[in-house]
Amino acid sequence: MGGYVAIASAGGQRVAPLIVDALRRLRFLGSDCAGLATCEGGKLYVRKDRGWVEEVDQRLGLSQLPGSVGVGHTRFSTHGRPHSDNAHPHTGCGKRLAVAGDGSIANYEELRDELTISGHKLVSRSDFEVLAHVAEEELLRTGSIVEAVRSSVRRARGFYSAAFLDPSREVVALVTTWRPIYVGEGSGVYAASNSISGLFGIARSFAEVRRGEIALVSRSGIEVLDLETLKPVRKSFELLKMDPQLVEKEGFEHHMLREINEVPYAIRRLLSSIQSRFLSFAARLVTASRSLYIVADGTSLHAGYVASYYLTELAGVSPIVVSAAEFPLYHVENVGPGTVVLAISQSGETGDVIRSVYEAKLRGATILGITNYVGSRLANLSNLYLPLAAGPELAVPATKTFVNTLALLYLLSLYAGVELGKVGRSEVEDGSRRLEALAESLETAIPKLDREAESVAKELSRCRSGYVISRGITYPIALEGALKLKEASYMHAEGMEAGEFLHGPVVLVEKGFFTLFIVPVERVAARATYPLIASSYEKGATVATIGFSDDPELDSVPGGKLLVPRVDRHLAPIAFSVPLQLVAYRLGRIRGCPIDTPKYLTKFVTQ
Ligand code: AGP
Repeated sequence: MGGYVAIASAGGQRVAPLIVDALRRLRFLGSDCAGLATCEGGKLYVRKDRGWVEEVDQRLGLSQLPGSVGVGHTRFSTHGRPHSDNAHPHTGCGKRLAVAGDGSIANYEELRDELTISGHKLVSRSDFEVLAHVAEEELLRTGSIVEAVRSSVRRARGFYSAAFLDPSREVVALVTTWRPIYVGEGSGVYAASNSISGLFGIARSFAEVRRGEIALVSRSGIEVLDLETLKPVRKSFELLKMDPQLVEKEGFEHHMLREINEVPYAIRRLLSSIQSRFLSFAARLVTASRSLYIVADGTSLHAGYVASYYLTELAGVSPIVVSAAEFPLYHVENVGPGTVVLAISQSGETGDVIRSVYEAKLRGATILGITNYVGSRLANLSNLYLPLAAGPELAVPATKTFVNTLALLYLLSLYAGVELGKVGRSEVEDGSRRLEALAESLETAIPKLDREAESVAKELSRCRSGYVISRGITYPIALEGALKLKEASYMHAEGMEAGEFLHGPVVLVEKGFFTLFIVPVERVAARATYPLIASSYEKGATVATIGFSDDPELDSVPGGKLLVPRVDRHLAPIAFSVPLQLVAYRLGRIRGCPIDTPKYLTKFVTQ
């Protein structure tokens, strides 16, 4: 996955410098590899390597490439580690076209096998390489780039968009199965990108190209066709207005807000990139283990706590969940062959996690890693790792990586359940479908939740401290909500198990204190929680509640509300974490906090 920009110059100027410049603004979409393909006189030029676009440009002279039509890419690795072979753009065996894209190809392994059997030589582990081979085969057969793209989209399933450069016709054809592609016109240039930020400084006006359409960008202009009928689609272009300060955050004020808004896409990316073969291996490791530890820190540890509910309920496996800071101090003595350590670290570089993994490996344990960075130390040290595929997360407060960790652990638990005969195979498919439905409903719900979060945050801003309270499978989300409030808004908050509330903590509840309740999804626990909400309110506390929008009990509950569409119980931790992240963000904004870079914190702690 990553960011791409295609440009065609009407006057025949070289486009390479413009593309390289545009890619610099897309760091938030990836920065592990960069590459550029241009064409001149029917010849295709491709240069690409590992590293940030500026480094690769210095090393390989990307901006020196000839040609007035081209496409460039900056990559975030999900399939295949950061490596020149895995960098986009990819070419087919005959180097007749080049492809760069974003998202992931769900049936990549299948297509790769089919192509290899039919004689294609694939040189990378990047899923997008298959598109280049499929499209090239069709281009050679039909002579039409439109047919080539149509054939690729028919064969490649998943959530992705891609740009195909055909050097013989000097055209870039673009297509999407998920997020829109932006096409834009500037002075003497036509451009396209998977991010509006990719057009900044190049295009004066832009239009969106959606699923079911194909865009053709060439020196003579931009044409959009219906992918089915091939009839032209009229697009009305609007003025591209963007605050230059916000371009590198895709128009959002903070990376944290951009990343929360990206949650639905992050879930889809995970669903389309996760290979069931690897999930099955991982599930076998988990279920065959003599003892299973889940080891992580901070937000990832909270995801680990949720996983203990998933694994216990769906697979009958009870892991020991322990902070990576504690694991080497007292658990390691019990570790040996037969132990599996499920190490979770979105960065894959957290010092405690790496130390725990070293210690466990020395004693013969098997390491199953979960990380967002496939080139990280955790990925390297793991016997098997599963990528989160959330895309780069630049804000220190983790949001979309937390959501994807939960989604991945849910799928892993379902696979483990299948291994042990606790759940049927159809449950796995249902689980993926439920996650896809959740992504869709969050996409619609986020703007409304953000407004609700803003008004709850206003109330909370009058308080000095508070509790985030829940019970059952959403109790770890209360812990995570309290952590997010501290990091993003410098508000003191404590995550609390609702059953413990009356055993002491209640004494602090009064005016100037807040209680933020997450209604438990277990019916008995929910019934016990509503009276706590009412009594907190009576004691003068500022009260807010997160629950399902169709819960009739919430009508009579006092205080602010954040209501999410109902989901299956196991997905409630995911659905409820988004409004909490938004409250933390909005409160941080009201309090003027440096939300993306809280003091004393770094994205990963290596000590
Ligand atoms: C999350 O918002 C925090 N920045 C922090 O708690 C983080 O989760 C922790 O440091 C672990 O990071 P990791 O997942 O990269 O290992």
